[in-house]
Amino acid sequence: MTRAKTALACTVALVLGGLAASLSAQEAPPVELLPPLPPEQVLAAFAPDKGRDQTAASCGLCHAPAMITGKHYSADKWAETVDHMVDKGAKVSDADYDTIVDYLARNYGPEKLAAISPVAGAASGSAPR
Ligand code: HEC
Repeated sequence: MTRAKTALACTVALVLGGLAASLSAQEAPPVELLPPLPPEQVLAAFAPDKGRDQTAASCGLCHAPAMITGKHYSADKWAETVDHMVDKGAKVSDADYDTIVDYLARNYGPEKLAAISPVAGAASGSAPR
């Protein structure tokens, strides 16, 4: 009886172990995540505007704010990105969702890039540093 239980436990452990291994192999992030910054540094990294507090609180936990503030996405692309981050584990309440997407689109949208550099804005690729 105990032997059968032990064998069962081993099988379960092996299956779970294999599952975890294959999951982590698939989930390898394409970018390197930085260690978390102190909250006041996260806040300071985001442009002062309505929605900054919510954005810093929801988006400042896993990676550097520069990963966000260096992008110039359309509102649709930001909404898509926020959805993707929620899948990754970001906490975005329904009440804050639009505030955050609007904040991002307003401050880190394609127009901002065009204002800084018309050429880069036209290309609309990655942001200048
Ligand atoms: C639970 C951790 C976590 C939180 C919180 C989080 N992210 Fe991310 N983010 C990641 C990971 C992991 C990656 C890299 C892997 C990937 O892109 O799927 C990433 C990558 C990114 C990228 C670069 C890739 C792309 O799609 O352009 C952007 C931009 C981004 N996050 C924005 C945000 C925003 C905006 C928020 C707040 C709504 C946020 N993140 C909150 C984990 C997180």
